[in-house]
Amino acid sequence: MVASKLFEPYDLGPNRLSNRVVMAPLTRSRASDEQVPKDIHVEYYRQRAGAGLIITEATNISPEGRGYAFTPGIFSDEQVEAWKKVTDAVHAEGGKMFLQLWHVGRISHPDLQPGGTLPVAPSAVKPEMKAFTKDGFKDIPAPRALDRDELPRVVADYVKAAKNCKAAGFDGVEIHSANGYLLDQFLRDGANKRTDDYGGSVENRMRFPLEVVDAVVDVWGADRVGIRISPVSPANDLADSDPEKVFVPYVEELSKRGLAYLHVIEGATRGDRDPHGFKAWSLRDHFKGAYMGNNSYTPELAIERVEKGEIDLVCFGRDFISNPDLVERMKLGAPLAEWDEKTFYGGGAEGYVDYPALSEEEKARYAAKAA
Ligand SMILES: Cc1cc2nc3c(=O)[nH]c(=O)nc-3n(C[C@H](O)[C@H](O)[C@H](O)COP(=O)(O)O)c2cc1C
Repeated sequence: MVASKLFEPYDLGPNRLSNRVVMAPLTRSRASDEQVPKDIHVEYYRQRAGAGLIITEATNISPEGRGYAFTPGIFSDEQVEAWKKVTDAVHAEGGKMFLQLWHVGRISHPDLQPGGTLPVAPSAVKPEMKAFTKDGFKDIPAPRALDRDELPRVVADYVKAAKNCKAAGFDGVEIHSANGYLLDQFLRDGANKRTDDYGGSVENRMRFPLEVVDAVVDVWGADRVGIRISPVSPANDLADSDPEKVFVPYVEELSKRGLAYLHVIEGATRGDRDPHGFKAWSLRDHFKGAYMGNNSYTPELAIERVEKGEIDLVCFGRDFISNPDLVERMKLGAPLAEWDEKTFYGGGAEGYVDYPALSEEEKARYAAKAA
């Protein structure tokens, strides 16, 4: 067996995690048309409950927050009931689970919006992207800029979703402030061209995301709220002229609020770990809660960085798709199964719940080899 701090329990606020390996939020586009998780979701998450913490796939806080077909929501009673089955299954296996609160902002399409209206964003800046709709990929139009007096309504949508997460039995929530979605669009000058007090200076650009954080903290308490950022990722056609100038003060503000963890995608999402002069992981120095690292970690790098105390928690995405028993495999030093990109999004059981865990015989073999 591989001995490492990675496999030791971790107290994340009031939540005791059985190990320091976290399952990343992973959109798999298998919910119903009404944005409701299905029985197959229960099985998928149950299979992966060996993670110290599971973060759900990004989940729409409101009908307007949706940007991809077949993603789940957390704004209706039916969705809450369906998620409750998932959290019950994960808890029965001894796991912990946070829901990732999502509003896509401009990364959507009228086909995905209630009433076929334009998606909303801080400013009417068109991303050069396509949206995944029921009828395939479609060009994303320029969004409608949110009026200043609409912003409290969007915050209220986050609050309702956060309350629903409690009713659905989650252990906490992760605010999705990464990958070019709504909160990231407010933060970065590539998408935020506002001239009111929600745009321009760094202080103004942080205002809306921090209002959302404060409102969610009011519902859950800071020690059950984490946040995800991707300071140097160009995901979803979003850039900033100087990410360090925005993200250092942002993280300092988040730290003051006592959030449970800071989750950092430390490079271009799903790509290079280190494409920039600004080292995203240096943000750890500005945050007093737990630091969760993500992006192209290998088991070796995870062990090394946890052992050195450079990170508290490590988050794996694609490896959890193809290795439901990822933690067990890492403990045994067993090889990891390859993922198949063709079944990442949409469809049913194939590529979702049919990646096998190691058999008892395989486990015994790897244990003997490691001894
Ligand atoms: C199929 C797929 C879906 C993803 N969905 C989400 C998501 O819903 N929310 C999110 O914050 N990141 C999402 N990501 C990014 C992952 O959480 C993670 O940051 C990325 O895969 C890099 O980690 P890895 O190298 O361990 O896979 C997704 C990535 C993949 C491959």
